[in-house]
Amino acid sequence: MEKVIEETKQGTSLVLEHKAGNTKKLFIESYGCAMNFSDSEIVASILANEGFNTTQILEEADLVLVNTCSIRDKAEQTVRKRLEKYNAVKKINPGMKVGVLGCMAERLKNQFLEEEKIVDMVVGPDAYKDLPNLLKEVEEGRDAINVILSKDETYGDISPVRLLSNGVTAFVSITRGCDNMCTFCVVPFTRGRERSRDPQSILEEIADLSERGFKEVTLLGQNVDSFLWYGGGLKKDFVKASEMQKATAVDFAQLLEMCAVAYPKIRFRFSTSNPQDMHEEVFHVIAKHHNVCNYIHLPVQSGSTRILKEMNRQHTREEYMKLIDRIHEIIEDCSISHDIITGFPTETEEDHQDTLSLLKYVNYDFGYMFAYSERPGTLAARKLEDDIPEEVKKRRLQEIVDLQQEISLTRTARFIGQTVEVLIEKSSKKSDAHWSGRNSQNTTVVFPKEQYQVGEFVMVKINDCTSATLIGEAVEYSSIMQ
Ligand code: 5AD
Ligand code: SF4
Repeated sequence: MEKVIEETKQGTSLVLEHKAGNTKKLFIESYGCAMNFSDSEIVASILANEGFNTTQILEEADLVLVNTCSIRDKAEQTVRKRLEKYNAVKKINPGMKVGVLGCMAERLKNQFLEEEKIVDMVVGPDAYKDLPNLLKEVEEGRDAINVILSKDETYGDISPVRLLSNGVTAFVSITRGCDNMCTFCVVPFTRGRERSRDPQSILEEIADLSERGFKEVTLLGQNVDSFLWYGGGLKKDFVKASEMQKATAVDFAQLLEMCAVAYPKIRFRFSTSNPQDMHEEVFHVIAKHHNVCNYIHLPVQSGSTRILKEMNRQHTREEYMKLIDRIHEIIEDCSISHDIITGFPTETEEDHQDTLSLLKYVNYDFGYMFAYSERPGTLAARKLEDDIPEEVKKRRLQEIVDLQQEISLTRTARFIGQTVEVLIEKSSKKSDAHWSGRNSQNTTVVFPKEQYQVGEFVMVKINDCTSATLIGEAVEYSSIMQ
């Protein structure tokens, strides 16, 4: 692979990886979660062996792929809009082929080919290795589809082509699928059952990133705490594993520690955690290793035990609060963020007040907040009426967003006067004279560039802040990470 540096509209450099001799052009874009962005890097790698290099220019593409999200109706509408855009471009470039990947492909299957005439190919999240065959079918003029879900595919043997990379931070996927069956969630249907990737292949991918100068790795999964490697297969089949397999199994805390010890100069993050699967050992690993960030994204969805039960979340409000207490007892200054859904069926004003009061109890640094969107086929869609009026969902959402904003400001302000360790990632969006990076707690930090460079760990004295950004000045290189 050779590196091609391209300037983005914001003036930041992107490192594109191109394979010499490839002549066909792939335009690939991703919507939704980090897992989709990571999967697109696997797809780009598979297609690099089929003669494709990526392009940032839609109009010159031979193949356009859109990696889609089904989590909320709005996400699907965004993709439909993009398909209209591709349709317009196809009029100028009739040879261009269009493929739909990811969760929407899995959810809608054949229906996609019927509804959207522009689409030539539909490929589910576990079928990307079949892309070379599917492309042949498309070239021969047939529509192509593979939406088979797998019980062991982890793409552990594929070395991803880094897309839209800053050359500093990267995602490494460690589990696929989800077995939790939260009643609102379409993911178990679109991404299948939960399986873990061989730790050896995870460490090899990190070794490669480290050699290429990457400084931060986020271990990715729908539910990382549920990581369990015992030699392959579905998580649910672990009960049938041999005694030997059980004795040598690796769980998430062990994997995280293996990574932290093997690569002391790489900073590790992970996402997403799930309260019911998170174990205290993970908190101890965070506390023990400087290079494991003090930050946990711990979605709660609702502060009401009754609603949590309706959502099939396997914990109460009180159990979640206890988990938060343990985090603070074990880890010094850990940031915590959330996902919250407002207006889940049957949610009362009292349930909503429970969510607001939980927000205050936890004192979250940050959060992702959504109005409930009924997804066809989920347990909630089948069993519960979507009975909260849209304006009520929106009002409750706004109240939660406003409160979170207030809390975020106080959380960010705690750093004023402190000196924090920052990994420089890119130029600040607002000023080309400033760097932008994040501290261990995942808060964005901006400061004057001076002699410092992208990819360096520096100590930054914080002088000011907004609710989401710290503003400071670099004082020296980090003595531990540099
Ligand atoms: N409606 C609204 N938000 C949803 N999420 C998942 N499913 C839905 C839905 N049907 C949110 C959850 C999850 C995040 C990734 O998306 O908060 O944690
Ligand atoms: Fe969806 Fe729940 Fe699995 Fe998260 S844990 S992906 S919300 S089913």
